[in-house]
Amino acid sequence: MNALIEFKGFNKFFGEHQVLKDIDLSVRAGEVVVILGPSGCGKSTLLRCLNGLESAHSGQLRLQGRELLDKATDWREVRQQVGMVFQSYHLFGHMNVIENLLLGPLKVQKRERREAQAQAEALLARVGLLDKRDAYPRQLSGGQQQRIAIVRSLCMNPQVMLFDEVTAALDPEMVKEVLQVIQGLARDGMTLLIVTHEMAFARAVADRIVFMEAGRILEQSPPESFFTNPQTARAQQFLEKFSYVENLPEKLIKELS
Ligand SMILES: Nc1ncnc2c1ncn2[C@@H]1O[C@H](COP(=O)(O)OP(=O)(O)O)[C@@H](O)[C@H]1O
Ligand SMILES: [Mg+2]
Repeated sequence: MNALIEFKGFNKFFGEHQVLKDIDLSVRAGEVVVILGPSGCGKSTLLRCLNGLESAHSGQLRLQGRELLDKATDWREVRQQVGMVFQSYHLFGHMNVIENLLLGPLKVQKRERREAQAQAEALLARVGLLDKRDAYPRQLSGGQQQRIAIVRSLCMNPQVMLFDEVTAALDPEMVKEVLQVIQGLARDGMTLLIVTHEMAFARAVADRIVFMEAGRILEQSPPESFFTNPQTARAQQFLEKFSYVENLPEKLIKELS
C-alpha cells in the first residue's frame, strides 16, 4: 500500500502547549478522509502543517514518499501539490473571476495562458459558474465565491485537496451547492482531507472518519461504523451533539449522491 500522505509520530507545539500528539495517519491516493472532533482539538493545525502554514515540532510527514519536515523543503512547491480551501475564500476583490483563477497557473506555475484558461473555464463550467467568468467577487454570493475558491485551487492541479470547514460561514441554502462540488471531486477519485461539521455530508462522502480529541487521533473507522457504533466514549459524546445524524442523513445522502 503506497500512502500519498503519511504522518508518523507527528508532534506540534504552540509554545508550551502541545496541540498535535503522536499523530499517525496515512492517506492513500484517491481516499476521502474526514476529520471530526470538537473545536480546538487540532484539526486545522493538522491540515495547516501539511500545507506548511505551520511548522512541525517532531515526527515524520511524507508526501508521495518524500519527507517534508526537512529544511530543504520548498513549501511553495509543496503548496502546488496540496491545495487548501478555508472558511473564508480570500478572492482578490480587484480582479474578476478568471483573473483570480489564472493568477497561480500563470504567475507561479508559468503555464501558457491558453491552456490554463481552457482548464479554468472547464472547471468553472463544472461547478456551474462559467457565466460568472468576468464577474467580480463582490457580485457573487458567498456560496459562489467559495466554489470559485475551490476552482482556484484545482487550477493548480494539486495531488490532494484540503478543505477546512469550507461551509461554516455560508448561509444554509448555499451549503449544499458547495458540498456537491466536493462530492463531485470525491467521486472523480481525488484525494481529499476534509474538516467539516456537516455530519450527514461526512457520512456520505468519507471513505474513513478520523476522530480527534485534544491533539490526538482517538479513532479511525469507516463512516458507517463510526456513526452507528463509535469505539470511544468521547466519539459517542461528540456524536450525541449531532443526534439528528441517526435518522436524517438518508435524504441528504440521496441528494448528494
Ligand atoms: N497560532 C496559534 N498560536 C497558539 N495557539 C494556537 C494557534 N493556532 C491554534 N492554536 C491552538 O491550538 C489548538 C488547536 O487549534 P486548531 O487546530 O485551530 O483546532 P480545531 O481546528 O480543531 O478547532 C487550540 O488549542 C488552539 O487554541
Ligand atoms: Mg479549525
